[in-house]
Amino acid sequence: MKTVIGALISASIFAYSLASGNSPSTNKIAKDGLPAPDLSANYTYEAHNLPDHYKTPELLDEFNEPKSNPLTNAGASLGRVLFYDKRLSINNTTSCASCHIQANNFSDPVRQSKGFNGRLTSLHSMSLTNIRYFKSGHGFWTERVDSLEKQALRPIIDQTEMGTQDIPELLKELENTGFYPELFERAFGTAEITPARIGFALTQFERSLVSSTSKFDKALQADKMEDVLTKEEILGYALFGGAPIQVLERNNLANLPSMGCNQCHQTAAMVLVGGKTNNGINGGYGQFKVPSLRNIEVSAPYMHDGRFPTLLRVIEHYMENIEDGPDTDNRLRINNDPTQQFERFRRSSEEQDAIIAFLKTLTDKEFLTDPKFSDPFNWPKADSK
Ligand code: HEC
Ligand code: HEC
Repeated sequence: MKTVIGALISASIFAYSLASGNSPSTNKIAKDGLPAPDLSANYTYEAHNLPDHYKTPELLDEFNEPKSNPLTNAGASLGRVLFYDKRLSINNTTSCASCHIQANNFSDPVRQSKGFNGRLTSLHSMSLTNIRYFKSGHGFWTERVDSLEKQALRPIIDQTEMGTQDIPELLKELENTGFYPELFERAFGTAEITPARIGFALTQFERSLVSSTSKFDKALQADKMEDVLTKEEILGYALFGGAPIQVLERNNLANLPSMGCNQCHQTAAMVLVGGKTNNGINGGYGQFKVPSLRNIEVSAPYMHDGRFPTLLRVIEHYMENIEDGPDTDNRLRINNDPTQQFERFRRSSEEQDAIIAFLKTLTDKEFLTDPKFSDPFNWPKADSK
């Protein structure tokens, strides 16, 4: 009797698996006894379908992919698994995604992130969105690492982030999972697992993180932006700077002085072309990389040290708290003139709200929930289909 029921159950599981398109032998535990990833879906990471506003000469020039590490679907798929795999930390508790969370724009909602041993990072976790559009390819707030490929290995041996993982030990650990050798073979032609290949795959996954399906993208693609953006959002765009002149004229905003945010948060990718600078914080000392403002609504707190909890605090900073120092950018001065004082952009609370409304048009729900960027160790629930 027992065996009949058993046979019925396994027959129905088999039928269910066929119906849902999954292989019947989906194993959630790997050979090493730790979680295995769900590899049943084949996702496309190569960015063939980016909208035209991402294909401008300026942005093509910022693209930091080296010839030695072109983005492929197999490479980024491997990178995704590594990115979410806690095996990369010394005590199997922390993955890259512990501090770079998809729903939070691949940043972390806390000011300082917790590492593998509960110790805190000194700076705020950086958003990884649109990281491919930083020509120098340098990594970290101070750009102290000279390539993203090298950068990707740093957290693994960082004493705060993931522990001083012994690399030969880690390579053995990955081999013993059973599933990694095949993923490396698909990505790089042979099953060999090397530190360089780990760095390459992680970086390919990072470079696939392009946000191009927000309300702002739809506005850039529309015949008339007003068909997509509200009056308040258009006002915010005018204040941010960089809105097309026809849009400004149609909305009687052509004479409104903008706050020139677009001088440093440039192009449709919302990145600083040409590297790092100081925006009048830290006493004007030090230059910092500027992560893309894409999805900025969900990556609070803001700045390298996470000093501002809200976008309103950020706007207030640019309105009245710019600090003068050796590194403060002259683009913050009146007419960008080094001999002039800083612009004191007094804006009504209505206008402050409008800039924030505009910044929120950069939120891209599709990107923030896209399964191809999600945790492969998080298996879909059997009853969710
Ligand atoms: C404990 C939290 C934590 C973990 C784990 C972590 N990071 Fe980070 N990450 C940060 C912080 C904080 C920064 C900014 C550090 C700085 O500038 O000093 C950062 C910066 C970065 C940057 C630089 C972004 C840029 O635009 O320059 C990249 C890339 C990155 N991390 C990738 C990864 C990868 C890949 C992993 C896993 C191998 C990982 N991180 C694990 C917290 C973390
Ligand atoms: C002179 C260049 C410059 C101008 C002009 C400028 N910014 Fe920035 N912005 C920066 C830099 C540099 C950073 C990163 C600073 C840091 O982390 O220390 C930054 C960071 C930000 C951040 C936080 C990003 C993050 O990931 O934490 C927001 C939001 C922001 N700026 C919005 C604006 C707005 C809105 C305006 C216009 C009112 C503006 N910026 C004008 C240079 C500039």
